[in-house]
Amino acid sequence: MAIDRYCVMGNPVAHSRSPWIHARFADLTGQVMQYGKRLVPLDGFASSVHAFAAEGGRGCNITVPFKFDAAAMADRVSARAALAGAANVLSFEGGLILGDNTDGAGLVMDLQRNAGFDLRGREVLLIGAGGAAAGVLGPLLQEHPARITLANRTLARASELVTRHRDLAAQMDVELLGRSLQDLQGNFDLLINATSASLNEAGVPVAGSTLKRGALAYDMMYGAPAQGFLTWAAEHGAHARDGLGMLVGQAAEAFRIWRGVLPPEQQVLDELRQLVQEAS
Ligand code: ATR
Repeated sequence: MAIDRYCVMGNPVAHSRSPWIHARFADLTGQVMQYGKRLVPLDGFASSVHAFAAEGGRGCNITVPFKFDAAAMADRVSARAALAGAANVLSFEGGLILGDNTDGAGLVMDLQRNAGFDLRGREVLLIGAGGAAAGVLGPLLQEHPARITLANRTLARASELVTRHRDLAAQMDVELLGRSLQDLQGNFDLLINATSASLNEAGVPVAGSTLKRGALAYDMMYGAPAQGFLTWAAEHGAHARDGLGMLVGQAAEAFRIWRGVLPPEQQVLDELRQLVQEAS
């Protein structure tokens, strides 16, 4: 029988750690599978997914900038992917393409289990309103913080995301506010950076005064791009954490969807952190 094949699709994709993570998951759980990476042309996403499915692929992870396209092209999407309007996991089943979004589950798992941060009753500031923020807002609401303020450089994008999540926020009894980064007020227990500001070397787009004493400041990035944010957070007395645990967490949830087995994510996170440190 042919070996089950998976891959990560993106542009760029060369930097992706997903093949390494899934290879470790497979090794540690005794699953026989292959996981590669595919650089997809910016105007050729849907055809690349169909081609991989036609070659016998079983599923793929989707990274920048195709997560919105992935949700749009799937035949069916999970409730969490529909709310996000974005998918980072596709599964090919019975001739159908199924979309899901495991980014939020990965973040929540890393915050609660690895960082020991209980979201219940907390004041949360989520900055950014692109694909990264869209994927995590629903799962964050489901953990019952007191309030989530979603702040973005472009207010309209924050407002759109807030409107889409209004019903869920009401259901969870969470206050959900959309703000522009320019007129942000108050201070917070948890700051989550879902902007790509550091990739443009623009620094951290909020003031240190947004952090309560002892707050957790979380960057969804890791490695060199996260360094400026982590240094800034420490300088302002916050606990700083990068997005490596979220990366492993979202991969673990994708692996569970595909293989029906939950891999030992803590062990793989420890190994990956070592690897990333050695590389930088
Ligand atoms: P992703 O899928 O990684 O979220 P994206 O959809 O391009 O990527 O979104 C990038 C996010 O980073 C957006 O919220 C963007 O703000 P705008 O909506 O105003 O474009 C934010 N961002 C990028 N550069 C920024 C900067 N220098 N300062 C503040 N926010 C920035």
